[in-house]
Amino acid sequence: MNLLDGKLVSAKIKEDIKIEAAQFTAQAGRKPHLVAILVGNDGGSETYVASKMRNCELVGFESTNIRYDVDITEAELIEKINEINQDPTIDGLIVQLPLPKHIDPDKITEAIDHRKDVDGFHPINLGRMQRNLPCFIPATPYGIMLMLEYYGIETAGKKAVVVGRSNIVGSPMSILLARNSQPGNCTVTLTHSRTANLKEEVLSGDIVVAAIGRKNFVTAEMVKEGAIVIDVGINREDSTETKSGFKLYGDVDFEAVAKKASWITPVPGGVGLMTIVGLLKNTLEAAKGAIY
Ligand code: GUN
Repeated sequence: MNLLDGKLVSAKIKEDIKIEAAQFTAQAGRKPHLVAILVGNDGGSETYVASKMRNCELVGFESTNIRYDVDITEAELIEKINEINQDPTIDGLIVQLPLPKHIDPDKITEAIDHRKDVDGFHPINLGRMQRNLPCFIPATPYGIMLMLEYYGIETAGKKAVVVGRSNIVGSPMSILLARNSQPGNCTVTLTHSRTANLKEEVLSGDIVVAAIGRKNFVTAEMVKEGAIVIDVGINREDSTETKSGFKLYGDVDFEAVAKKASWITPVPGGVGLMTIVGLLKNTLEAAKGAIY
C-alpha cells in the first residue's frame, strides 16, 4: 500500500502558490483576495471557513470572512453577493454550504458572478468543465486530480467508481474522471443511494472515490485487490481524546482497506488538505484573470 499524502502534496503546491501570489502582488499592487460568506454557526462550516481563511494568509492572499446570523433573508444575501460581484478588489467569492432551509442554495450559486465563482459551483463553470473548457473546477475534485497528477498515477482506461452524487464532489468528480485528459479517460460509474448491488459496483472499481458522508461505509469486502482508494469523507464525532473535542473519520474503513489498496488517502491528512489547495489555485487564477 502506498499513501496518497495530502500533507506532503498540499505543502508542495502551496509553496508554488505563495511564489505566484507574491509575483501577482508585486505587479498588481494588491494581494489576491478571497471573500467567504458564512451564514449561521454550523460547527463543521466554522472549522472549514477558518481553515480556508488561515491558508489564504499562509500563501499571501487577502481573505475576508463575512458572517451573518441564521435569520438573514435570501434577498439580503443576494444583495451582498451583487455588491461583491461589482467590487474589482475581490477576486473570489464563496458562500459556505449548507445554508439554512429558507435560503435556496441554487439561487445563491447562480447569483455569484461565474468569474468569481472559485467554488466552481455555478452552472456556467459546471457546463464548461463538462466540455473541457477553461473554468473553475470544484475544489475537492480539483484537489483529488492534483494529487493523482502529483503521484503520476495512470488513470486512462481504468474503471472508476464514484460513490455519492453530490453537486460538490461526486457529480463533478465523475465528469473529471471521464474527461479526455490525464488524469482522466476513465470509464466511470456514478453510484448513489438508489444504486442496485452497490457492493458489486464498488468491487469492480480500479479507482474508488468515496463521497457519501458515512463513517467507514466502504469496507474491505467492497474493494478490489490493488484498487486506488480516495476517501472524501470528513465525518466528525465528539471525542475526549483530542484537543478540539472531536475526531474525524473517513467514508472508508482505512485499516482494513489499506491492506488491499495499491494507493489510499488517509483521513485526516488526505483529500481535506487538497480541497484547500484547489480553492487557493482557483482564487489565484481568478486574480490573474487566467480563465475569464
Ligand atoms: N460545504 C462543503 N464543502 C464545501 C465547499 O467546497 N464549498 C462551499 N462553499 N461549501 C462547502
